[in-house]
Amino acid sequence: MAVLVTRRETFSAGHTLFNPRFSEERNREIFGKCSNPSGHGHNYVLEVTVRGEPDEETGFVFDLSELSSLVWKLVLNDVDHRNLNVDVDWLRGVIPTTENLANAFWMRLDANLPDGMLFSVRLQETEKNSVERRRD
Ligand code: NI
Repeated sequence: MAVLVTRRETFSAGHTLFNPRFSEERNREIFGKCSNPSGHGHNYVLEVTVRGEPDEETGFVFDLSELSSLVWKLVLNDVDHRNLNVDVDWLRGVIPTTENLANAFWMRLDANLPDGMLFSVRLQETEKNSVERRRD
């Protein structure tokens, strides 16, 4: 009986969405308000879900406080209250869309959790917009 277990964390970060290969006008057309070169921030909500069988002795799939520590250590300490375009080594050259962030977070978490345990990384940028990366 596999069970899904989710930890929710929040962080704030600044970004500007632009592709240096596009003109200023095209960037504005494609990325809208998020292309403003002065930058702006979002209050993000990150939900990390792991999947597995509850352990017979603890009843846990994965200790949620340990999951929280991992999420902070591997991802959030680097991005919280940072400018995602310039401050984060492992986001260099990445356009910080919600899609690309969810993907980058997935890679870091998946590499450090037991094999196959990470089920999904869901990242909410605004009340209306969210993105989810799931195990294929
Ligand atoms: Ni934005």
